[in-house]
Amino acid sequence: MIKYFILFLSLTILFSNNSNAQKMNEQQIEVKVKELLNKMSLEEKVGQMTEVTLQVVSKKQGTKDQKHELDLQKLEEAVVKYNVGSMLNVYDVAHSLEYWHEIINKMQDIALTKTPNKIPVLYGIDAIHGVTYTKGATLFPQSINMAATFNRSLEEKAGEITSLETRASQIPWNFYPVLDMGRNPLWPRLWETFGEDVYLTTQMGLSYIKGAQGNDMSSDSKLAICLKHFAGYGFPLNGKDRSPAWIGERMMREYFLPPFKAAVDAGAMTVMVNSGENEGIPTHSDYHLLTEILKGEWNFKGFAVSDWEDIKRLYTRDRVADTPKEAVRMAVMAGIDMSMVPMDYSFYDYLIELVKEGKVPMSRIDDAVTRILRVKFMIGLFDNPYSKNNNSEVFASAEHTQANLQSARESIILAKNQNSVLPIKKSSKVFVTGPTANLLSVLNGGWTITWQGNEETLYPQEKMTVLEAIESRVGKENVLYSEGVSFNKDINSAKAIEHAKNSDVIIACIGEPTYCETPGNINDLSLEKAQLNFIKELSKTGKPIVLVMIGGRPRIINEIENLASGILLAFLPGMEGGIAISEILFGDVNPSGKLPITYPRFVNDFVHYDYKPMEVFDANVFNPQWTFGHGLSYTKFDYSELQLSSAAINKNENLIVKVNVKNLGAVEGKESVLLYVTDLYGSVSRPVLQLKGFEKISLKPSEQKTVEFTITPEQLMFIGRDNKEILEVGKFVITIGGLKQEFELK
Ligand code: BGC
Repeated sequence: MIKYFILFLSLTILFSNNSNAQKMNEQQIEVKVKELLNKMSLEEKVGQMTEVTLQVVSKKQGTKDQKHELDLQKLEEAVVKYNVGSMLNVYDVAHSLEYWHEIINKMQDIALTKTPNKIPVLYGIDAIHGVTYTKGATLFPQSINMAATFNRSLEEKAGEITSLETRASQIPWNFYPVLDMGRNPLWPRLWETFGEDVYLTTQMGLSYIKGAQGNDMSSDSKLAICLKHFAGYGFPLNGKDRSPAWIGERMMREYFLPPFKAAVDAGAMTVMVNSGENEGIPTHSDYHLLTEILKGEWNFKGFAVSDWEDIKRLYTRDRVADTPKEAVRMAVMAGIDMSMVPMDYSFYDYLIELVKEGKVPMSRIDDAVTRILRVKFMIGLFDNPYSKNNNSEVFASAEHTQANLQSARESIILAKNQNSVLPIKKSSKVFVTGPTANLLSVLNGGWTITWQGNEETLYPQEKMTVLEAIESRVGKENVLYSEGVSFNKDINSAKAIEHAKNSDVIIACIGEPTYCETPGNINDLSLEKAQLNFIKELSKTGKPIVLVMIGGRPRIINEIENLASGILLAFLPGMEGGIAISEILFGDVNPSGKLPITYPRFVNDFVHYDYKPMEVFDANVFNPQWTFGHGLSYTKFDYSELQLSSAAINKNENLIVKVNVKNLGAVEGKESVLLYVTDLYGSVSRPVLQLKGFEKISLKPSEQKTVEFTITPEQLMFIGRDNKEILEVGKFVITIGGLKQEFELK
């Protein structure tokens, strides 16, 4: 009796809380989920596990000339007949804010009025560097650039703004951040990652989550993030997208899982599964990874969603399942809770059959649906199904644009500056050329307005290309322009050579066209011959050349590197990238980006900065074009007095590290102070260097600051031969800015 009274009391509190739209606590949510689950039919439960794309419920594709049109009959079929619990994405171009509201409102109207339990539909979107699919959104530098800033607060701000603008579109679920390790530079998704380093990826991921999800994903300005792609996607053997990896469990635990683990601990509630396979096991069928590690060891209480069509592919592509129905059984039993089917209802039909045949136990269905409903409650969907909020007026505000511009500025890397060719005097006559000089798409990359990001005519015309930004900075009269070459062929190089001869400095913008995912596969990391030859021809004029490298991958340029006096590595700096590049070229901004990857010198020499001793043993050498962490400034920073709190620490003690950094130059500058640890001897071979700390500081001329780091024993751990974490006593070295100090762990 008392038990029932308490239950009644808590339900009363719950309902009163709901009407006030207050955040429910964990216990309250668990009660609500159970209550709802008990009322649901098998069909409704399986519907919650089904996600389809907007295409399935559309009459007309959205294109630049044609407005997208919802098919209300099909929408009703999805939500009422198939009980669909989640929908995603676009068909095919970005919508206006108002049109998003219309779509979400119609979808939720049906769910709330025509389904038995009135469970709102969860809409998910790829808001990768901003709200990709909402017209006019603030589109930040891509992840590879954000990593190059080594600035946690910029990443947090990017998360915050992206969530505000996604919520303003009435969408509460974002398929981001990407926590894959970018360990193969050929991989066309490298730019979607925070680079090759475990610590940097973890820190940027955590900063993003703090800004985007915060402590309350039901808030009007936050949403549910989705970690992807779990796990091991970023190190394909052959460098092609969606191709096999061979990552053993030890390396998986040491390099690929830590960013995900940290994010789960920080409150991430959804995870998207890796589209590829590892050690012969397609991840969509990997029980060990999805159930034993993620949900077991890590106690993850959220849900795992498949990637696009990847359950079907267990049959159609990987052939580990011999029928499409077996593919569904395998995936669900491996631990996938929601299927991004996304083009039909086959998953729904098969899964109902499988449960009725006893091949998938009801307990697995209940577990999956519990996880999904839990997240729906946490997002506040039941209280606020339309995700109505007040953010529309801050959408793409001047403040957001300013944060975007600051990110772009700090994300660009000055790789070379011979004879101080940079910054260029504003009175110089410059010749701007190359295939990436006058396009907005190349600055943004994929996930921009469309999936591939290559519809140049859809880009906001008020944003500036590199050429336009240079013209507006130094005056059109000081700028000559001709394209010279396209990405892969000569266009008007003869004219370009003439222009070059009539200029003081050549600014050659080269690199890659825009691409996303598998369509971005290439066979050769070398920059296209046409561009290499063009630079060689330009160099014959004797005029100084500044290369501006734009694109998602480190294309090999060893044939022309020595022909350039200055090199900027701009990667994909986003919508404000043109301005940021021009500011750096002419000295209005002092560059402070550092490489988040090792830039290879040769096409077959992909060695990471955290290489193993044998990679520099005997005839082996580490000889990249530029190493991880490289990045110059227009000023000079001097490091001194590296001090450790003790020459020896115990296993339960922290080590405090201090170093002085001074600006010796004449201009103000920002410097990312990077702390590396070397474990001198280990039972498993240790990397020669591992990043374990970074802080970005700003110094005026002659100013000095002391930067302090705390190294915890956990940071000295690694994965032992038995695949378990181990802390081994012995000698370690701390390296900062070329200074070294040894200490012992006792
Ligand atoms: C990509 C994911 C993305 C999904 C939905 C897939 O092709 O691998 O990163 O979230 O599509 O658009």
